[in-house]
Amino acid sequence: MKAISLDITQAEKFACEQYKGLAGAAAEALEDVNTGRAAGNDFLGWVRLPGEIDSDLIDSINKTAERLRSKCDYVVCIGIGGSYLGAKAVISALSNCFSDFMDPAATGTKVLFAGQNIGEDYTAELQEFLKGKKFGIVVISKSGTTTEPAIAFRLLKTQLEEAVGKEAAKELIVAITDAKKGALRTLATQEGYETFVIADNVGGRFSVLTPVGLLPIAVAGFDIKKFVEGAAKMEKETMANGAENIAETYARMRNALYRSGKKTEILVNFNPKLHYFGEWWKQLYGESEGKDGKGIFPASVDFTTDLHSMGQWIQDGERTIFETVISVKAPELEKVIPSDEQNLDGLNFLAGKRVDEVNKMAELGTQIAHVDGGVPNLKIEIARLDEDTLGQLIYFFEKACGISGYILGVNPFNQPGVEAYKKNMFALLGKPGYEKETAAIQARLK
Ligand code: PA5
Repeated sequence: MKAISLDITQAEKFACEQYKGLAGAAAEALEDVNTGRAAGNDFLGWVRLPGEIDSDLIDSINKTAERLRSKCDYVVCIGIGGSYLGAKAVISALSNCFSDFMDPAATGTKVLFAGQNIGEDYTAELQEFLKGKKFGIVVISKSGTTTEPAIAFRLLKTQLEEAVGKEAAKELIVAITDAKKGALRTLATQEGYETFVIADNVGGRFSVLTPVGLLPIAVAGFDIKKFVEGAAKMEKETMANGAENIAETYARMRNALYRSGKKTEILVNFNPKLHYFGEWWKQLYGESEGKDGKGIFPASVDFTTDLHSMGQWIQDGERTIFETVISVKAPELEKVIPSDEQNLDGLNFLAGKRVDEVNKMAELGTQIAHVDGGVPNLKIEIARLDEDTLGQLIYFFEKACGISGYILGVNPFNQPGVEAYKKNMFALLGKPGYEKETAAIQARLK
């Protein structure tokens, strides 16, 4: 049985004609991704990456992870966007929900994150927490010039050097960046840090299956070989055109729904371990498709939690949304609801049932209610939360994203829009080289 299946039957009636009409475009878009004949083709290195990954690279990542695990209770992974979200999503999905509160001496090295924001309190509190602790740093930036991780790295590198000395700190820092370009490459070469390379032809948000995602995941103690093998299975399954190709089908259906007026897609989970998977997915689809005045707006919710906050809007608000539910078939653990003699809470009708049975009925009840209320529902069922399945799921969404962007008619592999805020920020901060922009923005603010 396959670890991942896609059910579009609860969406078909909302965009039947559009779905039929997109058969040719979906097949063409799949071919664009597979053969690299369309815009953005210099960023398609991720397409055959899992199947072709060098086993020496996996060994060397595992060796580095083991070294960091043997020396550090905490490893701070510094990065933002594609250099952060994939690792965070996979580690959260595989970890005990309370892992952060457990003793690393008993349960293994903890991975913390920095440089994914410029919150002064966050940084100060992280540095306070790390005082007196054994920690290392994995600094990740493809461009090697991104401001948020650069600030965090400057602060944490100084702290580490002050704590253990400059020479010992070098052994505890690993950099993942471009082979030649960028400030981080220059720094790593000068300081003699161990480094891993992000290939030129893999963009940030498609880089989970490179050292960007693999090293943090291995440091957290998970099996990256199984993770990559899972992705390689999905790579094979999503090559050929046809109904069996779930990436093509998902991409085609979400575009059909978009054309029928459903402009927002909500990624739903019924398992809190998948919260950050939603964050990763939002970046993947938001940065890939939101351009040229087009694109489905990607949002995410955690159910049933958010049924008590966003549920009203989803059930009865403007009918411009559809939802994609990731349903985990089997939880790892078992918890049965006990019977109670007094039954004051009226819950004895659930006594003897597993908590997951209630969760699954909440899921089914929500699906029926939302479809009745005009919200098309796509369901992605995954067998369990393990490395193999998550590798498959990551690759599935990446492949579907490439196909979907091409069906939409955009280049899914660039992100020109993210430069606008940076330009203004540098102008406002008076960065050398931005003198004209600084004068212009200050004149606007008078
Ligand atoms: O997907 C992308 O390209 C971006 O989200 C980048 O990953 C993000 O901006 C971080 O860039 P970098 O790795 O160059 O620091």
